[in-house]
Amino acid sequence: MIQKPKGTRDFLPKESKKIRQTEQVFLKIAEQCGFKEMRFPMFEKTELFERGVGETTDVVRKEMFRVISAANLEKYKEGQYDLKKEGMTLRPEQTASIIRSFIENKMYADAQPTKVFSVGSNFRNERPQAGRFREFTQFDVEVFGSLEAFTDAEVIQVGWELIQQLGITQSTLYINSIGCPQCRPAFHQALKDFAKPKLEHMCPDCQDRYEKNPLRLLDCKVPEDQAAMQGHPQSIDYLCPACEQHFEQVKQALEIMEIPYTIDGQLVRGLDYYVRTVFEYKYEGLGSQNALGGGGRYDGLIASLGGPDLPGIGFGMGMDRLIIAQDLQTKQSEQTARSGIYLVPLGDEAKPQAIRVLDRLRKQGLVVEMEVMNRSMKSAFKYADKMNYRYIIIIGESELQSGSALLKDLQDSTQEQVAFNALEDYTWNR
Ligand code: HAM
Repeated sequence: MIQKPKGTRDFLPKESKKIRQTEQVFLKIAEQCGFKEMRFPMFEKTELFERGVGETTDVVRKEMFRVISAANLEKYKEGQYDLKKEGMTLRPEQTASIIRSFIENKMYADAQPTKVFSVGSNFRNERPQAGRFREFTQFDVEVFGSLEAFTDAEVIQVGWELIQQLGITQSTLYINSIGCPQCRPAFHQALKDFAKPKLEHMCPDCQDRYEKNPLRLLDCKVPEDQAAMQGHPQSIDYLCPACEQHFEQVKQALEIMEIPYTIDGQLVRGLDYYVRTVFEYKYEGLGSQNALGGGGRYDGLIASLGGPDLPGIGFGMGMDRLIIAQDLQTKQSEQTARSGIYLVPLGDEAKPQAIRVLDRLRKQGLVVEMEVMNRSMKSAFKYADKMNYRYIIIIGESELQSGSALLKDLQDSTQEQVAFNALEDYTWNR
């Protein structure tokens, strides 16, 4: 039997429905913020990604799936097909393709800014693990033409809102500024100075990164190299006045929009095109692949791909990880959200009164269960706790005498005596 390729998934009807629902949430937010949809090919000239994503990135160096037709493969074997010039690659991300399409279709001739989004598959030959696949879907958002710090905050807000509306409330937004071509050389030099004494013990990739693009030293996955770069210089300490002001304005706009953020000086992102603002949304519950999405500003990229000198900013949100995080968070809140009442009569004399209470409360629409296994009070408590009941009502000899039940709230860890005839009027948290 032929099985699906490693790192890919089949989505059966139940999962497909969830994907559709997640997409709907994204589409609604994107459209509300003025973004319009774009679609473009799943594969492009390899050169687009080499120039767009960056030749020194792991994505380009190691992870791209190149595609070649059977006929071209024959030509290649005969030395008549130039893989470098003519080769095609399954897209590893959407930004480079959107920019290619923006330039090719002269969308820059329209009134700016251009605000677009796209939803679709991307392909990276990474080692599959929880939350990391070889085919995955991104919700991608891009804005071309605006240098305004508000635009950075607006883009960040779209992603943040998506995460919130999906109920992934335990997520964190990390932001950083990695400066511009004016301030970058000083930061690169500082990174090189920092790495130099340790370089001879670092991996061959890092030796290459040191020469070609020291920022990429921070991407190395070799634990010893990561340890060697601990405490490295941080880009925010090397910003030029213009970048510093821009970053201040981004933070201010986020604060006005009440979007909580954490500054992370280690955040540089794994793709080469970023300048100034970079950001990532993380959900720690996802384990090592905890980035739900990320993005940043890329002011020189459109020009470097042959278009006009227009700034840009955007993000890619990993839809697969959003769905995993949403499931985890739902499970967690189901576990913590208590509801219903568990009645524990102590002894046979208490049972008629307990049944009366149960019947009256059920008639009010409350979820009520009674202990029928003759468990000890301690084990009945344990059971109620395990079954996530919010309340326990205890009726024993002293309760019968006093005419009131002992009511325990397992969520607030409180307890009180409530008269039997007042139980019906009690304000229950259902
Ligand atoms: P990225 O950080 O490479 O950025 O990917 C964005 C998100 O896609 C990640 O945070 C993650 O959630 C998801 N993702 C990436 N690789 C995988 C994988 N192998 N399996 C599952 N999910 C994955 C970009 O792609 C940029 N184009 C984002 C951007 C847009 N920057 C500006 N505009």
